[in-house]
Amino acid sequence: MVFAMTGHPCISRRTLLRGGVAVSTAATVSAAFPPLLGGRVARAAGVSAAFSAQPLPHSFRPGRTETLWSYRADGAAAPGTAPQPMILRARQGQPFTAVFTNHLPEPTTVHWHGLRLPVAMDGVPFLTQNPVNPGDSFTYTFTPPDAGTFWLHPHLNSLTQLSRGLSALLIVEEAQDPGFDADIPLLLRDWRIGSDGAWLDLVDERESGRAGTFGPLHTASGQEAPVLTAPAGGLVRLRLCNADVTRILRIVADDLPKGAAVQVIAIDGHPLAKPETLDRESIGPGMRCDLLVRMPERAGDRVSFSNTSSSSPWTVVTLTAEGPSRKRRLPQRNPLPANPVSRPDLKTAESLRFDFGAGVEDGEKSSTAKPALWSINRRAWVEAYGVTGPTPELPMLPGQSFAEAKAAICGDGTPLATLERNRTYLLELTNYTPHPHPIHLHGLAVQMVSSTRDGLRIGQIGDTVLLGPKERAVVAVVADNPGDWMMHCHIIEHQASGMMGVVRVT
Ligand code: C2O
Ligand code: CU
Repeated sequence: MVFAMTGHPCISRRTLLRGGVAVSTAATVSAAFPPLLGGRVARAAGVSAAFSAQPLPHSFRPGRTETLWSYRADGAAAPGTAPQPMILRARQGQPFTAVFTNHLPEPTTVHWHGLRLPVAMDGVPFLTQNPVNPGDSFTYTFTPPDAGTFWLHPHLNSLTQLSRGLSALLIVEEAQDPGFDADIPLLLRDWRIGSDGAWLDLVDERESGRAGTFGPLHTASGQEAPVLTAPAGGLVRLRLCNADVTRILRIVADDLPKGAAVQVIAIDGHPLAKPETLDRESIGPGMRCDLLVRMPERAGDRVSFSNTSSSSPWTVVTLTAEGPSRKRRLPQRNPLPANPVSRPDLKTAESLRFDFGAGVEDGEKSSTAKPALWSINRRAWVEAYGVTGPTPELPMLPGQSFAEAKAAICGDGTPLATLERNRTYLLELTNYTPHPHPIHLHGLAVQMVSSTRDGLRIGQIGDTVLLGPKERAVVAVVADNPGDWMMHCHIIEHQASGMMGVVRVT
């Protein structure tokens, strides 16, 4: 059965564009790298942007040029800059409008990860909008309620499109400047690029049924272990976004020089009630972690961060102190104000169960030709695309029509759960597998309640729950945003092969 679009009418691009939204790109999009340190980008009120997805050539290694897929601010496409992520900036509580154009050889959509926006702007193909075909545009417009570090990525043929490079940062600035000396956003991701600079197969089918396929080339905003500068003795906001398709990062600060300190101040855009000294922070795919770095006093002293989730750790980024000391002290309280997230009413909350497992029950099979390796509540929602290599592919199986692809992708569209508007729910998330799964929920904020694992930040707000092997965690959700919202593992191979479903808020 074809998924019913009623209630979520597909709005054509023309309808939206006829709304006559004025779009300006100047000064609202920063594609430059390294990021501006200490400076402030001049921005017009009512931030807007125009950008596109496009193929761009890039050489990771001399003598070898490959084609990446990249989001670029319109007019800013310079060859050789493909892996440096575009950075969009919006302001909390201010309308944001972005005109997106697809210059890829296949359809795509843009999902604004972590934003609590109207469902029609959520960028899930067939569920919230029709795919944006090659050459077409779609206008995304919303008012972000929360400040913080967010990102955008496609939600169609996700494994191929994300692996090939499509992702960008969205910084939603606080209504009031929190007063850092520098703000450094970094998009962390690996690439399936071999030592000769050539694409490897994006997926190893066997690994898909395990932790996922890892990329051997590690980058921070397109560079391998970049060295950036920051004001000596200054307070730096280091925004880390894990945009990798597979890898869970465990970030540590290497031995700190005199005067330096590092605190975790926000997760998934939401401030911690109290800043915590950085120990070893697990950041799953899709998640963000904002660090407050107090730079060393002495110019030339360095603060380095490493990933320790692999048996051979590597440096992610290094900050070098520069200039005369700003002599800043670490603030006693979190310099970031809390976001306006509804308080859960735990006393009246209803519990809902979500079981994350391998495969589907006997007798039930995936709606596509692709095998379902993973499931939620023993049901699988599979992205029905061929995903084998780095060559562009149409997001349909050979011989499949558009309508068939839609039906295959959405199944019969039955939600995993239906939530009554404005009620509080306790989601019991149980991982029945020996692998971790970063479980992401669109459109709603989740608040950590309890877990079988130690070290959960109770009360912390986020959009992704990093479920360890066999872990059972309970999170509270206030169903205050109506719509059909995806829930899925953000290890994209798991998402693409079944660990995905819909939570409906009526
Ligand atoms: Cu980054 Cu469906 O999400
Ligand atoms: Cu997973």
